Amino acid sequence: MDAIIIGFMGSGKTTVTQLLAEKLNVKFMDLDSLIVQHLGQSISDFFKSNSEEEFRAVETEVLKQSVNLKGILATGGGTPIYNVDVIKNMDLPVFLLDTKNETIKSRLSQDTGRPLVNQLGLDGIIDLKHQRDAIYNELSDHIIFTDDKTPLEVANQILKIL
Ligand code: S3P
Repeated sequence: MDAIIIGFMGSGKTTVTQLLAEKLNVKFMDLDSLIVQHLGQSISDFFKSNSEEEFRAVETEVLKQSVNLKGILATGGGTPIYNVDVIKNMDLPVFLLDTKNETIKSRLSQDTGRPLVNQLGLDGIIDLKHQRDAIYNELSDHIIFTDDKTPLEVANQILKIL
């Protein structure tokens, strides 16, 4: 793998990583999509009959399987929190997309597919972001603020660093 893109839900990881992979002409990988392939069902369907703990176990398994693949990987929002050592051991540049609470809220308010948003509500989701921020920061080699940029500008900024 060439790099890992992390960040909270709604920070634009998937869109930015897709653009970045196109520009670098490498494979785009999205951990959530790999999990969906592995499960044969959507993440929200999986949460309906399984616990978050079970989801995290699958997430870690799929993350470990992806270590040897080539390309750029966008993780899920919670992936870094439960896989600090796995990500550190990958020894790849980690980019954090950091996005303001208001932007996250407005993006996630239009979303019905994320189980944690449905469980916690928008204020609960921001509390979760605050709980996670220290680990995001600890793991990241580069922090990119996304609020004042288009996804393409974010991708270009990462490209300059890579
Ligand atoms: C989660 C984020 C989601 C997905 C799952 C749990 C989280 O990914 O992995 O719903 O714990 O933050 P996105 O960040 O791609 O929405």
